[in-house]
Amino acid sequence: MTIRALQSRDVEAILAIQTACPEIAQWTAWDYDRVARGEMAGWIAENGAEVTGFVVARRLSNDLEILNFAVELNSRREGIGAALLGEALQWAQTFQATSAMLEVRASNLAALRFYERHKFEVVGRRPRYYTAPVEDALLLTATLR
Ligand SMILES: CC(C)(COP(=O)(O)OP(=O)(O)OC[C@H]1O[C@@H](n2cnc3c(N)ncnc32)[C@H](O)[C@@H]1OP(=O)(O)O)[C@@H](O)C(=O)NCCC(=O)NCCS
Repeated sequence: MTIRALQSRDVEAILAIQTACPEIAQWTAWDYDRVARGEMAGWIAENGAEVTGFVVARRLSNDLEILNFAVELNSRREGIGAALLGEALQWAQTFQATSAMLEVRASNLAALRFYERHKFEVVGRRPRYYTAPVEDALLLTATLR
C-alpha cells in the first residue's frame, strides 16, 4: 500500500468510493479538483493502480480538520484508514497543530470506534447537522501535543 498526495486523475476513483459511503459528505468532482489544486490537503491510498481510500483535511489556525475520509468497502480493517489518518496527522505537525477535529454522524459506530482507537474524544453534538437522512453530528477532537 502506498500513500501519496491526491491528484486530479484520482477523482473518478474517489467518487466511486464515496458513492458507496452514504455516511460521508457527498462531494462533487469539482470539490476534489480543488483538493488536487492544493486548496485543501488530500492523500489517497493505492494498491497497485487501485485507489483504496482517501482523506481530505485542512488547516484551521492551529488545528487540523478532517473534512472527508473513506476506505473502499472491501479494503477496510486492513490498516488503510490508520495510514491515511497518520499522513494527515504528520502534515499537521508541519504547522505545529495542537488538535485535530472532525464531525461524524452519530450512528456511524465504525468511524467512532476507529477514532476512539486514535485517541479522539466526543466533545460535542450538533443537532440535525446532517441531511439525507437528517441526523445529529458528533464533534470529535484529539490533542496532538
Ligand atoms: C472509518 C474508516 C475510514 C476506517 O478505515 P479502515 O481502513 O477500516 O481503518 P483501519 O483498518 O485502520 O482500522 C480498523 C480499526 O478501526 C475500528 N473499526 C473500523 N471499522 C469498525 C467496525 N465496523 N466496527 C468496529 N470497529 C471498527 C476498529 O478499532 C478496527 O480495528 P480492528 O479491525 O482490529 O477491530 C472506514 O470504516 C470507512 O471508510 N468508513 C466509511 C466512511 C466513514 O465513516 N468515514 C469517516 C467519517 S468522518
